[in-house]
Amino acid sequence: MRRSVMLSCGSYLPEKFLTNNDLAKIVDTTDEWITQRTGIRKRHVAGEGEKTSDMATRAAEKALKAAGLTGADIDAIFLATTTPDQTFPATAVTVQDNIGMGDRGFAFDIQAVCSGFIYALSTADNFIKSGQINRALVIGAEHFTRLLDWDDRTTCVLFGDGAGAVILEAAEGKGDKTDRGILTTHLHSEGAKRDLLYVDGGPSSTRTVGHVRMNGKEVFRNAVTRMSEAIVEAMQASGVTPEEVDWLVPHQANRRIIDATAEKLNLPANKVVVTVEEHGNTSAASIPLALSVAVEDGRIRRGDLILMEAMGGGLTWGAALARW
Ligand code: ACO
Repeated sequence: MRRSVMLSCGSYLPEKFLTNNDLAKIVDTTDEWITQRTGIRKRHVAGEGEKTSDMATRAAEKALKAAGLTGADIDAIFLATTTPDQTFPATAVTVQDNIGMGDRGFAFDIQAVCSGFIYALSTADNFIKSGQINRALVIGAEHFTRLLDWDDRTTCVLFGDGAGAVILEAAEGKGDKTDRGILTTHLHSEGAKRDLLYVDGGPSSTRTVGHVRMNGKEVFRNAVTRMSEAIVEAMQASGVTPEEVDWLVPHQANRRIIDATAEKLNLPANKVVVTVEEHGNTSAASIPLALSVAVEDGRIRRGDLILMEAMGGGLTWGAALARW
């Protein structure tokens, strides 16, 4: 069976960061409130003139280097972002140019907000499995702080900027759960709940970019339920038990959401990769950023079974199970 093996990953975080105490100087909040409710202690913020494509390119270059490849080896780029450089063209084509792909293959953006990386991974996996491409660059990159209303303390303390990338390559597997690569992906959405988390602007409505608006309590409730459902679905589809999972690499929205999801599935805390303290919620970038941290520090090793899950605006949610 044709599989999409994960060859390498890479990440990028802007140099500048804001601590909770820095935010307390801008809005009516405290380090204690943010830490207790979210687990977040700091978040990185892209510099003036630093675009989503710049961060995506840096992450992609690191992933290419780690795999010993160049842009000329890549057939397609799937870039998940909610914060494109421009309304069009897709940010992915700028990355295609930046990494020297020339006119090779194709590149496009995927918009599923915080679930974007799972959507992009699933799309790339299906292109590989169908035989249409052999190697894919899957990127999650966000300049999310550009969407924040810095007067709204209920949202501006939660998010940060960054990028992460993974390279997938076609390989033959046996077709069971011992295979390396993506074992299964599951995507969902429920448009009726789009008003729980959205941006109050856009080209066809206000002709502006807009700011993030959120019903935090409802988003929290849906996040735990939906992500747990998607995880169970992924495990059942591949015949994997919770004990066989080596690492949960969840979307990093909130420490309490991560803990509640892991608890619901009986996954011990030492199997969960958590970066939300240091990164905040970087939307589509959060899973590949967390993956890169755990691969680089040696926690995730070749052959480990990784469970990834996310939920975001839309509502969108999904899960992916992969053997590194
Ligand atoms: N600092 C201090 N006080 C604050 C802040 C802040 N930054 N934000 C809100 N408050 C106040 C509120 O005004 C409210 O005050 P009041 O009681 O006087 O009215 C009080 O704190 C409690 O507010 P709640 O909204 O009830 O707080 P809650 O416990 O629900 O926590 C939070 C809010 C952290 C946003 C939580 O609902 C949450 O994590 N939701 C999930 C949202 C999320 O992660 N979204 C990311 C995108 S979706 C995703 O990635 C999964």
